Amino acid sequence: MNTKVACIGTGLIGGGWVVHYLARGYDVVAWDPDPGALPRLQRQIAAAWPFVTQLGLAPGASLENLRFASSLAEAVSAVTFIQESAPEILHIKQGLLKEITTFAPRDCIIGSSTSGLSMTQLQSDVHFPERIVAGHPFNPPYLIPLVEVCGGEQTSRVAIETASAFYRQAGKAVIQMDREVPGFIANRLQAAIWAEAMHMVAAGEATVEQIDAAVVQGPGLRWAIYGPCMTYHLAVSDGGIDKLLQKVQEKVYMSNTRASLPDLSTQLRQRLVQGCLNLQGNFSHAELIQQRDQQLVNILKCKTPTP
Ligand SMILES: NC(=O)c1ccc[n+]([C@@H]2O[C@H](COP(=O)([O-])OP(=O)(O)OC[C@H]3O[C@@H](n4cnc5c(N)ncnc54)[C@H](O)[C@@H]3O)[C@@H](O)[C@H]2O)c1
Repeated sequence: MNTKVACIGTGLIGGGWVVHYLARGYDVVAWDPDPGALPRLQRQIAAAWPFVTQLGLAPGASLENLRFASSLAEAVSAVTFIQESAPEILHIKQGLLKEITTFAPRDCIIGSSTSGLSMTQLQSDVHFPERIVAGHPFNPPYLIPLVEVCGGEQTSRVAIETASAFYRQAGKAVIQMDREVPGFIANRLQAAIWAEAMHMVAAGEATVEQIDAAVVQGPGLRWAIYGPCMTYHLAVSDGGIDKLLQKVQEKVYMSNTRASLPDLSTQLRQRLVQGCLNLQGNFSHAELIQQRDQQLVNILKCKTPTP
């Protein structure tokens, strides 16, 4: 039987999920209470389909596999997985999840697209709360691979594992979080940069144009290949992040930003160094730099120059 997914709420993110699941060859049942939702979804799909097609459609992928349900009960009654993408308003999501869990098959896992609401609060008044997880995507969900999977206090381990496996099978890069962290990971990192950017604009230290160019023409290119930890690890040829952390300790490196650093305890230092060594694996420093440079060339060659 073909995988059948319900997408509940078909705005920017829910509609993006519809595109993604259709491109993976799944059957999709969509539902949204807005009377204008269907034509809006059709426009969104038409705009995005050429791009997912360029990436490659799964066998059987077709726009014919979409059905727009006339009720929530009908949408969730016979599906494998439910993706909830209603507005980021606690009482709306709580009420919706309660309804979804009333009508959905007992064993069906529900992933919420929430960007930052507490899963523990979201699942506080639903039927069988153990099957609800946060499955936080990045816009546009049909192109950006990341999904952060996180449970609340009542979510079962099985539900987290099952949801992670489902998203991986659907072609996503899953970060399975071990504990509930407000804002998950990626948005917190984005928010830290955004806060510093706003401080710099407020203080007249940099313009919006300068800030965006600084990211797009600089670290943003490297971050598409290695994250902030490995970027620093590779920045110091002799000693990697371990050496760099000595400089942090001396407050030479990051003392100019408004962010406060945590206490650089021995335990923290070990975690940072070991994490980078795990990511490094069996590759030498020089090999990783070669790989980075090749990927930078690939990106630079296909990137439209920005002004
Ligand atoms: N915008 C982003 O970049 C982004 C990224 C990741 C996650 N998210 C999360 O995705 C979710 C949806 O955000 P969005 O940006 O698509 O918002 P949106 O406003 O574009 O879409 C929300 C949709 O939900 C529908 N809706 C309203 N009430 C509903 C109800 N009771 N039941 C079902 N649907 C209902 C609306 O008609 C609308 O189509 C939020 O939880 C948001 O935090 C957003």
